[in-house]
Amino acid sequence: MMKNSKTDKNTKIKLPKYSFRGLSVEEAILKRRSVREYSEKPLSISEVSHILFSAYGITHIVNGFELRASPSAGALYPIEIYFAAHNIEGINEGIYHYIPQNHSVEIIKKGNFREEILKACLSQETFLTSSLTIIYTAVFRRTTSKYGERGYMYIYIEVGHIAQNVALQCVSLGLSSCVVGAFYENKINKIIGVDGKEQSSIYIQTIGFGI
Ligand SMILES: Cc1cc2nc3c(=O)[nH]c(=O)nc-3n(C[C@H](O)[C@H](O)[C@H](O)COP(=O)(O)O)c2cc1C
Repeated sequence: MMKNSKTDKNTKIKLPKYSFRGLSVEEAILKRRSVREYSEKPLSISEVSHILFSAYGITHIVNGFELRASPSAGALYPIEIYFAAHNIEGINEGIYHYIPQNHSVEIIKKGNFREEILKACLSQETFLTSSLTIIYTAVFRRTTSKYGERGYMYIYIEVGHIAQNVALQCVSLGLSSCVVGAFYENKINKIIGVDGKEQSSIYIQTIGFGI
């Protein structure tokens, strides 16, 4: 994997602009399929940028409120997006966190976490070759403080919106993906460094070029 002096010296990486004009939504819907085996071709940082922007990028500012690519009950945006970079050109292997406010990522920890993630996800084949593994977490209180128990339902609905945007964006970029609900939250939480109470992993998505 290529080393990037940016990730060696700084903890934040500014992502390139969202500009790609790919497939139509109709074509992307027709082509989307869950794919669980990926090639060794690395993702580019531009592809990672498009994926993250399509998930939770800030698309509009209305009356001072930053609105994002995916809908959110009360515009409270309870999801925080982490990812494991396994095979991305110009980005060191490690765990990263997406910051929508300046469309950048910060490194949480460096290293190869493929084996640990594989174990935390019941050794599912999709983790053997994914170039990028997105881990969606929720900060529950952001939504439950307004909506109470109903807020939990909203959070799980919202992560589905985000993952679907990402799945279609992947198809548009010529990439493949698979969403994963079967994993040990506590193990994944430990890997990314969240407490499992205030904030927990709730959904995972593997991404890469198809074979
Ligand atoms: C909530 C949810 C959880 C899922 N969990 C897994 C999983 O743990 N492992 C996996 O390989 N696929 C998982 N999938 C993907 C489904 O197996 C897949 O969507 C289904 O077989 C239909 O295929 P398609 O996505 O190609 O249409 C999950 C899908 C959803 C919506």
